[in-house]
Amino acid sequence: MTRTPLIAGNWKLNLDHLEATHAVQKLAWLLRDAKHDYSEVEVAVLPTFTSLRSVQTLIDADQLPIRYGSQDISAHSSGAYTGEISGGMLAALGVTYSAIGHSERRQYHGEDEAMVNAKVKAAFSAGIVPILCIGEGLDIRKEGRQVEYTLAQLDGALAEIPAEKVSTIVIAYEPVWAIGTGEVATPADAEEVCGAIRVRLAQLYSDEVAKAIRILYGGSVKSGNIAAIMAEEDVDGVLVGGASLDPEEFSAIVRYRSHVTG
Ligand code: 13P
Repeated sequence: MTRTPLIAGNWKLNLDHLEATHAVQKLAWLLRDAKHDYSEVEVAVLPTFTSLRSVQTLIDADQLPIRYGSQDISAHSSGAYTGEISGGMLAALGVTYSAIGHSERRQYHGEDEAMVNAKVKAAFSAGIVPILCIGEGLDIRKEGRQVEYTLAQLDGALAEIPAEKVSTIVIAYEPVWAIGTGEVATPADAEEVCGAIRVRLAQLYSDEVAKAIRILYGGSVKSGNIAAIMAEEDVDGVLVGGASLDPEEFSAIVRYRSHVTG
């Protein structure tokens, strides 16, 4: 398998710039002590916009192999859009990733498929890799429609995105009922939808593209449950919320391979 696993921490509305630099420093120390090989398992954090500059400065100064990204991106590149942050501005801060379409943005900020699609396009235009978040709520899960619902979100988000661009995208399957609830999807639940996402990517593009794209699981991931989730064939990493705020716990998640071997 050529897909490098990605362990990304979504800090949401937590950690100001002082706390953020402290957290990155501590994470870097812990992973250095553990002799973590970043080429084997990639590590990224998604701080708030106001912490990105400080995180960039620290990572650049110490040449830390940790990547960072934003939790959102404007669909617009410039102009009269008060409060927005453009892809160009994020790229200027060395941002690798932008989370797009997180369920909290869909729920609290009314982001619909057209908006998510526009943001995916904006990220690609700025040379930023989208981490496209999709996943069903509890009502849909209870009806057993999680696959069709999530694939419809995928189709909407990828409208008019050509194959030559899409292959770097990261997809995060985050069932809403598992976010921040402590209720983690079973490895089989995660694989059911992640596998279906890969099949759909092959239909939309090609087998080659589908095989290259990393698909993450997100929702109540912790050091105690990650190894079983990562053992699934179509799960190429995780997007971690609450547990990523604690560097000890997040570094234990990053080192999930050592859990299996003891
Ligand atoms: P939790 O890990 O806190 O459930 O959050 C998941 C998430 O929303 C990551 O984007």
